Amino acid sequence: MVFFCIHLITCFLLLSDPSSSSITFSLPSITPQNQNRDIVIQGTEATISDDGIQLTRNMAGLDKTPSAGRATYIRPLNLTELASFSTNFTFVIDSNGSTPYGYGLTFFLADNNSVISEGGAMGLPFIEPPNKATSRFVAVEFDTSNDYWDPIVGRGDPLGDHVAIYVSSVSSQKSQKWLNNVAGGAVCQDWVRCQDGLFHTFDVKTVLPESVIFGFSAATPDAFEI
Ligand SMILES: *[C@@H]1O[C@H](CO)[C@@H](O)[C@H](O)[C@H]1NC(C)=O
Ligand SMILES: *[C@@H]1O[C@H](CO)[C@@H](O)[C@H](O)[C@H]1NC(C)=O
Ligand SMILES: *[C@@H]1O[C@H](CO)[C@@H](O)[C@H](O)[C@H]1NC(C)=O
Ligand SMILES: *[C@@H]1O[C@H](CO)[C@@H](O)[C@H](O)[C@H]1NC(C)=O
Repeated sequence: MVFFCIHLITCFLLLSDPSSSSITFSLPSITPQNQNRDIVIQGTEATISDDGIQLTRNMAGLDKTPSAGRATYIRPLNLTELASFSTNFTFVIDSNGSTPYGYGLTFFLADNNSVISEGGAMGLPFIEPPNKATSRFVAVEFDTSNDYWDPIVGRGDPLGDHVAIYVSSVSSQKSQKWLNNVAGGAVCQDWVRCQDGLFHTFDVKTVLPESVIFGFSAATPDAFEI
């Protein structure tokens, strides 16, 4: 049986708009006081404790059903006013020594009323991955499962755990192998930056609605037999 949990520990975000008033917030340690003040959590299993945000069901509990959740900033982001943003965050994905594990975590921007989907969609808005997105989104994913739509290398071998960029699809625009330690529950730190509205090579304003929510989403599967 796989114990699996996804925790978001800290977040620092810097947004700037052309009128040069930049919005910055830093959540050096996320605690229950941040709920509904800075952060909104959604998903039946998402909780905030003194250890940070837990996006999915803790599989150490008895009930091993799939779960998905997300945590977003309390205020929407108006992309028309956005010049650039960057965010640094730390998180833990812990399978407590077990393999296989899944599914992963994403940092995303999407419609406020978008749905949360379970499974390999990692909480992103889908009817069914990889291509039936129910609303527009852009996400950076930290994917810990190999779904059939995920990148392959060489003669069809899966790339394995990877970091990728998704635009209203889970077929990645760009992906890269991610060396992590999920089995050991190591702390990961990452940094996402969007300069002049450009997210790597595309303009987020052309692929998203004007007003979006942003934050993190994650999903875990039901029990595995190992
Ligand atoms: C993690 O694995 C260890 C060793 O198998 C076990 O003793 C411990 O109870 C597990 N922890 C949780 C939270 O499931
Ligand atoms: C999203 O929509 C809900 C319900 O309409 C609203 O209460 C909430 O403030 C909105 N969130 C953002 C970040 O705009
Ligand atoms: C995020 O981390 C990177 C790399 O460590 C650093 O260069 C950058 O200034 C940090 N940005 C913020 C907004 O903290
Ligand atoms: C976003 O900002 C622009 C420019 O300030 C404004 O015209 C527009 O109404 C805003 N959109 C929303 C959805 O708030």
